[in-house]
Amino acid sequence: MSDSRIEKVRLGTDGPEVGAQGLGCMGMSFAYGPTDADEARATLERALELGITLYDTADAYAAGENEKFLAPFFAAHRDEVVVATKFALAMDPHDPAKRIINNEPAYIRQCAEDSLRRLEVDEIDLYYMHRRDVNVPIEETVGVMAELVREGKVKHLGLSEVTGNELRAAQAVHPIAAVQSEWSLFSRDIEAGVVPAARELGVALVPYSPLGRGFLTGSFTSAEKDLTEGDFRRGQPRFNGDNAAANASLLDPVRKLAEGRNATLGQVALAWVQQRAQVHGLPVVPIPGTRRPARVEENAAATRLLLTESEMELLEPIAGQVAGGRYADMSFTSAGRE
Ligand SMILES: NC(=O)c1ccc[n+]([C@@H]2O[C@H](COP(=O)([O-])OP(=O)(O)OC[C@H]3O[C@@H](n4cnc5c(N)ncnc54)[C@H](OP(=O)(O)O)[C@@H]3O)[C@@H](O)[C@H]2O)c1
Repeated sequence: MSDSRIEKVRLGTDGPEVGAQGLGCMGMSFAYGPTDADEARATLERALELGITLYDTADAYAAGENEKFLAPFFAAHRDEVVVATKFALAMDPHDPAKRIINNEPAYIRQCAEDSLRRLEVDEIDLYYMHRRDVNVPIEETVGVMAELVREGKVKHLGLSEVTGNELRAAQAVHPIAAVQSEWSLFSRDIEAGVVPAARELGVALVPYSPLGRGFLTGSFTSAEKDLTEGDFRRGQPRFNGDNAAANASLLDPVRKLAEGRNATLGQVALAWVQQRAQVHGLPVVPIPGTRRPARVEENAAATRLLLTESEMELLEPIAGQVAGGRYADMSFTSAGRE
């Protein structure tokens, strides 16, 4: 075992122990343009060598293809990895830009069976409700998820993009190991209600898009100009038009700080989210997504970058200055219901 392995963190009070950074696998099949499958497979293997053990997917990513893509890797390392997937969200087959959200009990049961089959596992280690369907009481949704635990199909429960109050109601039905929500230098809305509730209940935070979907690394400055057609980020207000130009200039202090620390912009962004969670007194496991071994090394190394108090202060105003929302339709997020 190499010295470069990252530290471990427990998700929730009785959730699994995982490497302090996970790996977002969505981009390997979905949303961010063409993928080299061999390179993506090499990324999975390199991540594991570095001590990354939480692997994040969802049934919605390329309509189950992402789960299928990951299955051989999980089979080869079943005892070393924590498999996290999600239900509740699907793209309308007639209009991929349209999202369908469903928390009906029968649908959840079917989704769990389908994910188990595609992932080729007997049990899902961490099963998330991906999005909240407001037509179904959260207690009922978590009740069905708890039945899946009792039936041995799921080990631990998680919720994505829930409000603080929804999290409290859920936790009253069954322990929740983790809340997965967007959290980054650019997206801090969850600090108002979700983060305090998670802290109060002993639930861990799994920040998604901690690199601002790549924007915080400086690897693209305008979705329309720099990214391929069909890339999900072309539909996100903050990465397009005048918003993107204004937001790119917000990275100046991040760049300066990174240069001073001999780090990359992405590493500063990842260190920030890790430390921001510590300020709130929360266990945290960010899940940056990458398909490239060199980048997974760079990202994992960020778990060892400690920003000073004055560096954290320098980064403090950035989120408040971001132009444009993180989604075109915020009603599907916790902030949209708070
Ligand atoms: N619960 C939810 O609703 C939800 C929503 C979105 C995402 N997620 C999960 O969260 C994971 C992470 O979020 P995300 O992928 O949206 O965004 P992210 O982690 O903020 O950024 C991913 C993007 O950054 C690039 N990147 C990664 N490391 C880099 C580096 N060191 N230097 C330069 N570029 C780098 C990646 O490109 P390459 O792949 O080409 O390296 C990719 O385009 C996803 O994979 C998914 O599992 C969950």
